[in-house]
Amino acid sequence: MKKFWLIAVVVGLAAGGGQADDGVIPASQAPGKALKVHAMDDGLALTPPMGWYPWNTFGQEPQNEKLIREIVDALAASGLKEAGYTYVGPDEGICFSRGSDGRITTNLQRYPSGLRGLGDFIHAKGLKYALYTDAGTHTCSGAMPGTNGHEFEDMRQFAEWRADYVKIDWCNTEGQDIVKTYTKLHDAQHAAGRPIVHSLCSWGDGSPWLWAAPVGHLWRTTADICAPGQVNWELAMKIAADNQKLYPYAGPGHWNDPDMLIAGMPGLSEARNRAFFSLWCIMAAPLMAGNDVRDMSESTIRVLTNPEAIAVNQDPLGVQGHIIRTEGKVGIWAGKPLFDGSQAVLFFNQGAAVESVILNLSELGIDPKAALYTRDIWQHATSGPAVSPYGALTVMVPPGDIRMYRISSHGDFPLPPVIVADTYLISLRASGASAQKLTGTVKLINKGTSELPLWKVRQDLPPWLTVAVAKNGKAQTFTNSISTAGLKKGLYHAVVRLDNTEPLTGKPMSAVYYDIDLEVPGDVGGVAR
Ligand code: GLA
Repeated sequence: MKKFWLIAVVVGLAAGGGQADDGVIPASQAPGKALKVHAMDDGLALTPPMGWYPWNTFGQEPQNEKLIREIVDALAASGLKEAGYTYVGPDEGICFSRGSDGRITTNLQRYPSGLRGLGDFIHAKGLKYALYTDAGTHTCSGAMPGTNGHEFEDMRQFAEWRADYVKIDWCNTEGQDIVKTYTKLHDAQHAAGRPIVHSLCSWGDGSPWLWAAPVGHLWRTTADICAPGQVNWELAMKIAADNQKLYPYAGPGHWNDPDMLIAGMPGLSEARNRAFFSLWCIMAAPLMAGNDVRDMSESTIRVLTNPEAIAVNQDPLGVQGHIIRTEGKVGIWAGKPLFDGSQAVLFFNQGAAVESVILNLSELGIDPKAALYTRDIWQHATSGPAVSPYGALTVMVPPGDIRMYRISSHGDFPLPPVIVADTYLISLRASGASAQKLTGTVKLINKGTSELPLWKVRQDLPPWLTVAVAKNGKAQTFTNSISTAGLKKGLYHAVVRLDNTEPLTGKPMSAVYYDIDLEVPGDVGGVAR
């Protein structure tokens, strides 16, 4: 007998009735109010998702289980996992097919452990599982079936494979209504019962920023940033310029996605990697690395793991920065208040000569006479407190590079929480016919600088499970105690959800979910509690 203990997630929002409209809002427009969002209380993606996806480097071939496993190991070995990169898995290249029973099934030649087995491997490594599908009849290459007409069974299958994130492409969708389609996929996912981040990938078609917040956690705003393996700097810069205009529409749980990162791909200098990464950070863009993380220079690792840049991206207020002014070849990016009262500002010089730029503090809404501290996010150096004689910042920006700062009235520049886990899967097997106590722990480490209150178990647990939370400095452990008394032979499964709040703002943090598997090989005596 299979028992499936799944924790109910409170949901229940239909799509907002936004109008599809292909225009982006003009940069000059004051931030209007975006949609009322996510009554969907899933606690997912309250900061921009971070992870790795294969497409930018590998394209469809040679994605397979071996590659993904190597990438998972490299994420851990290189420090990217510690820096917060969490979601990982195949893109198109996932290679499932649809059987005569209508179900999608793993291609065991490409994924010998099965797509569930790959997910278990990823979860056991303390990472989250990302999968890919398409909303149309077929994926973009035409090689795989899309979800059209099979939305509910496919979302059930993704839940059974234990996905935590699904990217849903928009190829081969002729005649489909985009709002209805992604709404149906959202409903199907909720019917399947597993909390999953929904990544909508219509490349800006149908202006998803106008309506998708209640049905997805992020949406692509532009065309692909590159063909696999072929970095195109000019295109990436155009994408940044287009995406930044959409700043009013982003926020916790609903992000503009200007596509996966090209930082670290062949052909980019350190300055370009730094500039690119800084732009994605200040735009609160999802940080899905797209380079070959098995083979990275020290410089690439330094860029992708800069905790101070990541802190700007992962800031709990979730505000998207944007260009507030350009001066010659220099774009001034701001409008990014941070959780500690500081704000981020970035100067990007796309010209060929060093430029000196003056930014009046009043443009940032700061009192020109205030004594300020300035933190250089790439030099890791603080200056101040200083009162500017002219109420302005003067910055020298090297050609083709950025300068990025946090500006504050205090000098401590705390880093917000970034959560790293040792595992997201507890797998236990009972033995014998008499009752046993089994335990398994999950350890979470907060890579930010402030301590968190205790995580709170969100919901009723199945009767065989109790979860105790204990704190050890910045780390917290969740001890899962299982009593097998009175359990019948079978496989038992629970998804545990824990919640926390960020202490400076009191805002909810992204919920932590993990799976518990319990195998009971024979009926156990005793009385269930
Ligand atoms: C689209 C997406 C890409 C990638 C490919 C796969 O182009 O935008 O990110 O998923 O499909 O075919």
